[in-house]
Amino acid sequence: MKNTANAGSATLALHAGDAARVVGVPVAVSPVLSASFHTHPDAVGFSATDLAEQSPHFYSRWSNPTLDILEARLAALEEGEAALAFGSGMAAISALFLGKLKAGDHLVLSDVCYAGVAELARHMLPRHGIDVTSVDSSDPAAVEAALQRNTRLVHIETPANPILSLSDISAIAAIARAAGAELSVDSTLATPLATKPLSLGADYVVHSLTKYLCGHGDTLGGAIIASAKRIEPLRRDSLIHLGGALSPHSAWLILRGMETLVPRMQLHEGNARQVEAFLATHPAIRAVYWPGSERHPQHALAARQMRNFSGMISFCVKGDSLGMARQLAEKLKVFSYAVSLGKTKSLLFHIPTEDILRSSFGLEKTRAAAYRDWTGDGTFRVSVGLEDAQDLITDLAQALG
Ligand SMILES: Cc1ncc(COP(=O)(O)O)c(C=O)c1O
Repeated sequence: MKNTANAGSATLALHAGDAARVVGVPVAVSPVLSASFHTHPDAVGFSATDLAEQSPHFYSRWSNPTLDILEARLAALEEGEAALAFGSGMAAISALFLGKLKAGDHLVLSDVCYAGVAELARHMLPRHGIDVTSVDSSDPAAVEAALQRNTRLVHIETPANPILSLSDISAIAAIARAAGAELSVDSTLATPLATKPLSLGADYVVHSLTKYLCGHGDTLGGAIIASAKRIEPLRRDSLIHLGGALSPHSAWLILRGMETLVPRMQLHEGNARQVEAFLATHPAIRAVYWPGSERHPQHALAARQMRNFSGMISFCVKGDSLGMARQLAEKLKVFSYAVSLGKTKSLLFHIPTEDILRSSFGLEKTRAAAYRDWTGDGTFRVSVGLEDAQDLITDLAQALG
């Protein structure tokens, strides 16, 4: 599709990055499963430093025709100029951190975010001389207070996995920009259908493509989307040299999943609305969080920043949460008790509060207390799938007892 400027998300998810419509060219995308491409001594140099925008395909860790389509489609959906695909969400995020930050730099990070990111930032970056401060990014003033002279990057996740707290992207973008820092937003749980962080002032958007963008839970993938000027050095240093490239076969699965992104997200949201309403009145449940509900403490921000509230719900129970987790794992028949999220089939997983505070977040007293306040002794993370909503509610009702 040539001119994507005015197209809507459903059209872009199907067509952006398509091959030119020449007679005889396949209509469907097929994966180009080749590690290398025919070349010539005059075509491209041997080093990644010789790579130019117009360089032909050379080696699949540098670029690949199937990944070109995926990257163009992601960039169009996020209203960015360019994108880079990686083998997983963690590969994308670690490539961004290691590509942008050097010894002596400072990173400000959402104190609640995907555990792998929190652990990478707390345990590994300091070993490379990168200073990290984790803050309550649901409070823009706390982000501002954490900035230092050497802050290069602010990284936030909204909605945050696993508790679905939100951060105000435009407010934090303004704060970061005023301090000369860049802002990256992990928008995995929102999807580009709900929120377009670049248009709200962020410099980078990252996604775990493993989740809603693929949508079927059958492959891993990750991406960074930004301006062409920001993506170009990341391709050379962070993709080609760190090497976390996405397989073309996985790119093809993700492209296929993305074709139904918009109707899937509408169904996820509709089902989540009904499941949340059921959970909110269940006697065993202490609190339930879904950004689309007025019961969510940050619903006003959600309504301003999200055009789709997705299928992610979290809740905590009144009694012993580990006991309830065991009961649910044994009794659920439609939901699977499993990690991950954003796929067609419904998933539920329990995250004990003290475990995640200790192993991943390392929060100090007041922030740990605020987290405990939100989650009780454990969060149940629910990824509401595309089954009939009534079957999901019946399943939860019989399993919760
Ligand atoms: C918000 C978020 N970001 C990043 C990741 C990491 O993605 P991946 O598992 O594809 O490496 C996850 C995984 O659950 C996630 O939920």
